Order: sequence, then C-alpha cells, then structure tokens
Amino acid sequence: MRVLIVGGGGREHTLTWKLAQSPLLEKLYSAPGNPGIAKVAECVDIAADDIENLKKWALEEKIDLTVVGPEAPLVLGLADSFRVAGLKVFGPGKEGARLEGSKVWTKRKMKEWGIPSAGFAVFDDFDDARSHLARFYGGAVVIKAEGLAAGKGVTVASGPAEAEQALYDIMIERKFGEAGNRVVIEQCLSGEEVSVLAITDGKSLVFLPSSQDHKAIYEGDRGPNTGGMGAYSPAPVYTEKLARRTEEQVFWPLLKGFNNLGVDFRGVIYAGLMVSGDDLNVLEYNVRFGDPEAQALIPRMKSDLLPLLDAAAGGDLKGLDAEWRGDPAVCVVMASGGYPGSYEKGFPIEGIDELEHESDGRVAVFHAGTAIKDGRLVTNGGRVLGVTAWDIDLSKALDRVYSACDRIKFEGAYFRRDIAHRALKRQERE
Ligand code: AMP
Ligand code: GLY
Repeated sequence: MRVLIVGGGGREHTLTWKLAQSPLLEKLYSAPGNPGIAKVAECVDIAADDIENLKKWALEEKIDLTVVGPEAPLVLGLADSFRVAGLKVFGPGKEGARLEGSKVWTKRKMKEWGIPSAGFAVFDDFDDARSHLARFYGGAVVIKAEGLAAGKGVTVASGPAEAEQALYDIMIERKFGEAGNRVVIEQCLSGEEVSVLAITDGKSLVFLPSSQDHKAIYEGDRGPNTGGMGAYSPAPVYTEKLARRTEEQVFWPLLKGFNNLGVDFRGVIYAGLMVSGDDLNVLEYNVRFGDPEAQALIPRMKSDLLPLLDAAAGGDLKGLDAEWRGDPAVCVVMASGGYPGSYEKGFPIEGIDELEHESDGRVAVFHAGTAIKDGRLVTNGGRVLGVTAWDIDLSKALDRVYSACDRIKFEGAYFRRDIAHRALKRQERE
C-alpha cells in the first residue's frame, strides 16, 4: 500500500515508525514530516492544513490510505474533501470533528446522550459570564474558550479572581481570537486523569490500552499547561471495572449518537477522563491520537497497525483487533527552555544516533520540533523530542528512558523527572 501521514510532530513520527514496519507497505510518505520521520518515510513539502494541495498530490501519487495526525485539518474538512475525490482517509469528516472543534457542541451532546461530564453553562457575553461566576460557583471553576486553542484555552481557576481574569483574557482581550466568542464555564472535577482511545469504523470499536499524560510544565503537576510533557501506558488507575463502564457510558452512547445524526466517524476517538474511585467523567473528546500518548501507546502494539487503520478508513473493521505487549512504556518529552512561554530555536541536538545504535531496541526517540540546519539536527519547536522506552516493569522502563534522556544534549533542554509518578505511588501503596 501507498500511505500518506499528514502532520509533522511526535505523534506522526510514532505512527510512521510503526507503519514502516508493516509488510503491507509499499511506500510511506509524510506531509510535511520532520527530520525523524524522514528516516522512515519520504517527506513531502505540503502543510498539514493545505487541503487542496494535499488532495491534488495524493491523487497524482495514487495514495491508497491517508492517515491524518492532527485535529486542525480534520476540523477544516480534509477527510470530506478527500472522500469526495475517492481517496480513503483515516480520520473523521468535519461533522465528526466537531467533537474536538467545538466544546459547546460536545458538552450539549454529552448531556443529551447521557454521557457523564461536569455541569456547565455557555456564555456569549462577558458580563453575563462574570455574574454567573458570582452566583453559581464561587469556588474552583474551569473556564474554556470555544473552539481550538492548541490546548491552551482552558483555565482551571482556583478562585473567582483567577476565573474572572480568564474570562477577560478570552472574551475581551481575545487571546485566542475567534475562540473567544463563547466560553464554557464548567464545574471543577477532582481525581486522576486518564486517556482512553478507540479506533472506529463508525460501527464498531477497537479499544487501545489506557495511558496517562502529564500536562503541567513542572514536576508535581505545577505550572502552566503544555501540550503534554510525558505519558505512560498502561495507567493502573484504569481498572477493568472502569474500562467496562467507560465502554458502556462514554464510547457506545457517543457512537450511537453519531449514527443517529448520520455521522460516519472513521478514525480515533480519544476520551480524556477524570476518574475518582469508581466515578468517571469525560473532560474532553479528541478526534485523533493523543500526543504524547501515542508515543507511549504505539510502541506497545505487537500486531500490525496498518490493516487496522485501513479497515477503519474503509468503514469495515471486519472484527479485527490488535495485540499488545504487556510491558509498560514511558515517553518523556524533552522541551526547549522557556516552553510553554517563549523559547529560542536552532540549538544543535547531540547524542540521538549513538543512543539508537547502542540501545537494545527498547528505546525510540520521536522527533516533535526538530529541523536540519546546515546539515545538523537542531531544535525547532517547544516540544523537541519524545523519548520512549519500554521494559518488563515500570521502574525498569523509567530507568531506561531517563538514562536515554541524560545522553541527549541541546542547550536549554528541559524535561520532567517525575513522569509516571502516580503509577509509582500506586505501586508503593499496593
Ligand atoms: P480540555 O482541553 O477540555 O481537556 O482541558 C484541558 C485540561 O484542563 C484537562 O486535561 C484537565 O487537566 C483540565 N480540565 C478540563 N476540564 C476540567 C474540569 N471540569 N475539572 C477539572 N479539570 C479540568
Ligand atoms: N496529550 C493531550 C492531547 O493530545 O490532547
């Protein structure tokens, strides 16, 4: 098969790394790709949201399957446009992508379809929103800008002053542009977060193992939120009992709701859950693989990923399933100093090649924000690398991943040393 991966971050490197191992593959492309992806696929210089040029190119190159990594092209309608042209795509159309593209739509549908989620109210006006804060909550609330804001449009406010500031930033200052036309004010939930992903052809679901992201920049989950500073899989907090309830209460009602609306969802459904004991609530849905969750999940997959993605895109999963390794995996994100605020780019990165040659196949370095400048690999983004390792138990996987991180050098490199701290604490208690 001739396959195109749309995107150029750590998640897309992970997908290309895995698909490159498939015996069904004839040729692998990525648009725009990155220097890590370039080692296993041919990179095509077309931006991930340049739908028209991607489509033209995919038709000319007779691409059999296009796999869309990030949400933005899906929200813009890439999948609809490709399907009309007769191209097979893994990823939902515009209607299905509303699940991630519109927080208001999703909150309303969750309520309508009986999916557990925090209480909320929607506002178009700053003064209304502010008075709602005063009247209804007073304690901790969550303020969310409508629409995509690269994961930064959400503020978990510890009190009214912080909540009001967040409303002001979104609705008056327009920090997130158009996404500031509306806000959702939500009840603040406590507990532990877990990411649950399933591949779907619109009718059936193939569940992937659980994982847990670490959104805050600093150790101990302090400081501002980022795109994700590390992840591990599986997440022990996600018990068998929770898994069954999640399938019944979070995934099936959603798929049924989509079917009733006539939405044919072919791709990944990602549910971000907050769990507390036996209680679970959906914080958000995404319509793509998590980043960096994919970096921890995909290396655990024993079976071939390509037939699964192809069957889902074709609308018939045919009873396919995936096989997984029992070994846990941990991904640690190495970021540029200053991220998620401003940071410099262009620092040379050393140590990856040596590491890959010497490790015994249980370490993978996924590129997220890198570039080649004057023939050298340099930093080119906030999240630079996702270093993943797996081993027979979590402690060994952590030793392996951190000794790998310690061998990779670039100026200002920052990473959290406490990835998987919740799972370790849980192990100590048991
Ligand atoms: P979202 O983009 O909606 O997932 O929000 C981003 C992050 O904000 C989540 O991963 C949580 O850490 C946090 N968050 C969102 N909604 C809530 C909530 N209702 N209660 C507590 N934390 C939340
Ligand atoms: N790691 C969070 C996300 O992909 O949305």
